[in-house]
Amino acid sequence: ATCEGMIKLDGYPMPSFMQDCTTRGKNFFGMRNWKIRDDDVVLATLAKAGTHWVDPILYMLLTRKTELPAERKFTLFDATNEENFEKMPSPRILATHLPPQYLPQQLDEKKTKIVLVLRNLKDAAVSLYYHTLNMHLFNYSGKFKNFLPLFIEGKQQYGDVFSYIREFEEKMNSEPDRICLVMYEDLKMDGVREIQRIARFLGVDANEEFCRAVHESCSFHNMAEKSMPEQERARFFKPGGSFYRKGIIGDWKTHFTVAESEMFDEIFAQRMAGSKLKFTYSA
Ligand code: A3P
Repeated sequence: ATCEGMIKLDGYPMPSFMQDCTTRGKNFFGMRNWKIRDDDVVLATLAKAGTHWVDPILYMLLTRKTELPAERKFTLFDATNEENFEKMPSPRILATHLPPQYLPQQLDEKKTKIVLVLRNLKDAAVSLYYHTLNMHLFNYSGKFKNFLPLFIEGKQQYGDVFSYIREFEEKMNSEPDRICLVMYEDLKMDGVREIQRIARFLGVDANEEFCRAVHESCSFHNMAEKSMPEQERARFFKPGGSFYRKGIIGDWKTHFTVAESEMFDEIFAQRMAGSKLKFTYSA
């Protein structure tokens, strides 16, 4: 089964809604010159690592609220165009799945803080599979066993996941104080502590009670219920599809065969050789 709704940008397979950030739909350099504000924060996430989870957490920490304004809509900042980017109200959370070298230059000049969210790649693969299967845009009906090789080869949305992680690991090594790494699994298992850690990184004065309230407000069930009105959900997704699918650690175990899992581990070991990052595969 083929996947529609994709374009190639600088060799990366991207969803077609990424056109606007680009130079004539060909590459990302169109947004290299976008203007950055001093209070912008980057939310860099591996696709399906929990962007829709950490975005409201950052919003609540930065605004010291425990609710989202009803009119606030989530968008990847690079799926918008420069004009709309400039209209985004502060504090702006610049959510993106792109690797560091494509992001606006001023982010490096201003040393903008980056919250980086990663997730074990087996669960990320399963999550991206359902995302691709369930979004109208991709008109996709493939099986997981056919999707997995494409994911491993970087032929799915946002390209090569191994390079993505390696490029950010390199950046973390060179600028350790500028990047706060959040693992989906840690957020899942020890959410309040992780939210407190993010707050410290952002320089937000947030006590434990407040972080608990943020954690509760951003829980899977609360977000799944409140974040997207049914009408809007149905505009993007087939019945049953959503950004909030299962929200668990280890769903890969019901999707990977033993052989697929072993093959994945081998490729992971090769592609991530020398990496110091540790991923968690079970709760
Ligand atoms: P699953 O498909 O495994 O359920 P993104 O927001 O980057 O697209 O990631 C979506 C993934 O994060 C989905 O994973 C979704 O269920 C999970 N997720 C979103 N909000 C969550 C929350 N509050 N708690 C746990 N998982 C959440």
